[in-house]
Amino acid sequence: MSLHTTPDYGTPKRVSEKLITLEIDGVEVSVPEGTSVMSAAVDAGVNVPKLCATDSLEAFGSCRLCLVEIEGRKGYPASCTTTVAPGMKVRTQTPKLADLRRGVMELYISDHPLDCLTCSANGNCELQDMAGVIGLREVRYGYEGENHLKAEKDNSNPYFSFDPSKCIVCSRCVRACEEVQGTFALTIDGRGFASMVSPSENQPFMESECVSCGACVQACPTATLMEKSVIDKGQADHSVTTTCAYCGVGCSFVAEMKGSEVVRMVPNKEGKANRGHSCVKGRFAFGYATHPDRIAKPMIRSKITDPWREVSWNEAIGHAASEFKRIQAKYGRGSIGGITSSRCTNEETYLVQKLVRAAFGNNNVDTCARVCHSPTGYGLKTTLGESAGTQDFDSVMQSDVIMVIGANPTDGHPVFASRMKRRLREGAKLIIADPRTIDMVRMPHTEASYHLQLRPGTNVALINSIAHVIVTDGLVKDDFVAARCDVKEFAKWKAFISESRNSPEEMEKITGVPADQVRGAARLYATGGNGAIYYGLGVTEHSQGSTMVMGIANIAMATGNIGHEGVGVNPLRGQNNVQGSCDMGSFPHELPGYRHVSDDRVRGQFEQVWGVKLDNEPGLRIPNMFDASIDGSFKGLYIQGEDIAQSDPDTQHVTHALEALECVVVQDIFLNETAKFAHVFLPGSSFLEKNGTFTNAERRISRVRKVMPALAGKEDWEVTVALSNALGYPMKYKHPSEIMDEIAQLTPTFTGVSYERIDELESVQWPCNDAAPDGTPVMHVEEFVRGKGRFVVTEYIPTEERTTGKYPLILTTGRILSQYNVGAQTRRTANNSWHSEDRLELHPHDAEQRGIKDGDWVGITSRAGETVLRATITERVQPGVVYTTFHFPESGANVITTDNSDWATNCPEYKVTAVQVSLVSQPSTWQKHFREFTDTQLDLLPQHEASGA
Ligand code: SF4
Ligand code: SF4
Ligand code: SF4
Ligand code: FES
Repeated sequence: MSLHTTPDYGTPKRVSEKLITLEIDGVEVSVPEGTSVMSAAVDAGVNVPKLCATDSLEAFGSCRLCLVEIEGRKGYPASCTTTVAPGMKVRTQTPKLADLRRGVMELYISDHPLDCLTCSANGNCELQDMAGVIGLREVRYGYEGENHLKAEKDNSNPYFSFDPSKCIVCSRCVRACEEVQGTFALTIDGRGFASMVSPSENQPFMESECVSCGACVQACPTATLMEKSVIDKGQADHSVTTTCAYCGVGCSFVAEMKGSEVVRMVPNKEGKANRGHSCVKGRFAFGYATHPDRIAKPMIRSKITDPWREVSWNEAIGHAASEFKRIQAKYGRGSIGGITSSRCTNEETYLVQKLVRAAFGNNNVDTCARVCHSPTGYGLKTTLGESAGTQDFDSVMQSDVIMVIGANPTDGHPVFASRMKRRLREGAKLIIADPRTIDMVRMPHTEASYHLQLRPGTNVALINSIAHVIVTDGLVKDDFVAARCDVKEFAKWKAFISESRNSPEEMEKITGVPADQVRGAARLYATGGNGAIYYGLGVTEHSQGSTMVMGIANIAMATGNIGHEGVGVNPLRGQNNVQGSCDMGSFPHELPGYRHVSDDRVRGQFEQVWGVKLDNEPGLRIPNMFDASIDGSFKGLYIQGEDIAQSDPDTQHVTHALEALECVVVQDIFLNETAKFAHVFLPGSSFLEKNGTFTNAERRISRVRKVMPALAGKEDWEVTVALSNALGYPMKYKHPSEIMDEIAQLTPTFTGVSYERIDELESVQWPCNDAAPDGTPVMHVEEFVRGKGRFVVTEYIPTEERTTGKYPLILTTGRILSQYNVGAQTRRTANNSWHSEDRLELHPHDAEQRGIKDGDWVGITSRAGETVLRATITERVQPGVVYTTFHFPESGANVITTDNSDWATNCPEYKVTAVQVSLVSQPSTWQKHFREFTDTQLDLLPQHEASGA
């Protein structure tokens, strides 16, 4: 239950053009066909008492509190399970109904502890509310009979407790776990009086299938399932709506507050990205924002071996500015640059790129999207004309065939995964292309029709073989292609893809995927109705990442699966604002809105508004910055909210580059791995401490609202403003809304965006302009943004990273549900209870050959380096493939990844590294050095007690 008081209609809204008119307590009301009487009553201004019903779940009809009388019908039907009919006359309040409801309530209360005053739900309990509403005054059955009042609590989950003594067996939790989350972790065990809610096989929550999404806690009308933060702190006194700062789903949350303390984060029912759902990160893992490791004072030092000195904001900013000026005077204008963050807001990102272009006077700006979705930008822009996903998340509910390529939605994008799972339970078909057996391959009540378990690095071979079947089986939607696409380019592509070398039979030798499976999957996608493709970093982080994105766009265009609901090409973006950071001009060759810096007309517009001459040459990409640093021509770097020393490939190359810089300015909330190489530390602000906007994977711009003061006194955008002013390029914004106004003024896809408009619409998907004042849920509807869709020939070129006798296995990487990216946030929360170390997954066959047992320490050696992890033996990976996550810096996953990268964008090839794995007894040399260096750096902090974990 939430403090947020949007009405609860009791049953889900129905959509129908046909309206039914009926009368409820004398009030006439018209509602869509299929609506429940209970929901219609809310429209008539009547709240029928209820306990087992809530509008996030289908009606169940178990509590019998919502009984009504209907003229001409016998008995007392439940209003939650009765649908409206024309001319129906309903009475919700009669003496008989009041009597019946009291009787029901008495039964509940006779088996419920009477500890309302000390109960954590006091003031926010539906059972208490209903007792009041129905006027319960006595409990005739007494409290002496058999009851559950001594049932044992389950406190195993770090975030919520389960107190069965308060359970009314309404089964809202069970249904939430099934319908909303799709995990099926809960059941009602036993019958009649003995019935009890039970996680999995009567296990504690932590040992069950539960993934701690919180949907059951949200649905529980009593204090049975309750957030521990509420038990500790009490009910909130006010709330603020904001947006999750973790992944690219961009869930909307209501931060329930007590003063400036967050009591809990409740998923927002009105949120268009998440529709009231959440995952363990956004829902519970917000404690990092107030973790003692936060650095709250600016610090400077001359050398990275010096102790840090806490200084005022003025001194820190002044020092950074004078260092940057000194470096430019000595080494030239291009000797410094900046890195924007996909975790920061659009406004902050915009300001950093503006600072680089206008105050540094060059285009040396890049973003972490370089290392994840830059191929998406390139590939979709080239083929479709816009560097973004084509659909909104709701669209998946109209899909008939869902193809998931190189993505692991239940771990990486869990709330959207729940939507997908719901659609699959409704009957949509699923194709998965992934080297690993991800959870979605087999789930409760659904199974993938095809799991194309390809060898890492062979994506393009696979997509070409799928395309080959579509073309040679005559499954191309010729009308669509003729009307919407460049037919000359199509003809070239068709000729190429039809060649027998692209057939599934030929490509099987490369991909390892049986040809008949490829043929089946291709036919299903092309002929199964609305086909939607969702893909992740398993597509982009390859030497042919951009080629693969174009290969995906090719098959979507060929089959006409683009331009309406239920279809499309959809990158699942990793970080919360990776779409936004790209939109805001974070790449060295593009101004905001993906317009090339060499375009005189566009540059002229920016020059006019920014009042400064801009460079027309693209600047350095992140890998070029590292190389230039090692070569000695690049000397200063401003890094906002990124941890390149952990997240970028070939760690030792990155740290050498950082060591070679004369001034590294890091703005972050923690002393992250990169900050250990910094000379100026500017304390950052968490998402709870600032105003701004994030743009999620569906191009949805949502507000981030400040709920507590910035710990160090400045929001991140204010720090960039101060740095710019100190550099002599004045910035005068008083509020982030003014920055958004400037973005709107300069970016054609944003001209209709303002804080006012976002507040009116809850959130808005760009393009939002005169042509689309309410935003654009589905793109490329009438025509492609580039005019005609462009097919691109996607020749498969094997990666240079090959297995050999010395490095016989392929390492691929990914993430896990409970941790996020470099882990700086989630590692500082109780999410470590699920994943406290990165492990190396390897197949039993490979383990046996090497004498490795589950839990053994193993050394992983590649051409780039060596690290040591513990082994998990599992058939989730295929023989010859090993896998790890990269959430802990000491794991050194990126010590072993190579500097191979996408040919078009330099996106690193994280997903393919040839390695050898062997038993070891001690950490790697790099890990020993890492530990020593970390200890030294922590000792250099003014307060040594910071754990720096
Ligand atoms: S735990 Fe809560 S939601 Fe689940 S059956 Fe009990 S009272 Fe209902
Ligand atoms: S927290 Fe989520 S996964 Fe766990 S039991 Fe509740 S609804 Fe199911
Ligand atoms: S799915 Fe992503 S955006 Fe939503 S709560 Fe989880 S981490 Fe946050
Ligand atoms: S609310 Fe209708 S039967 Fe429980």
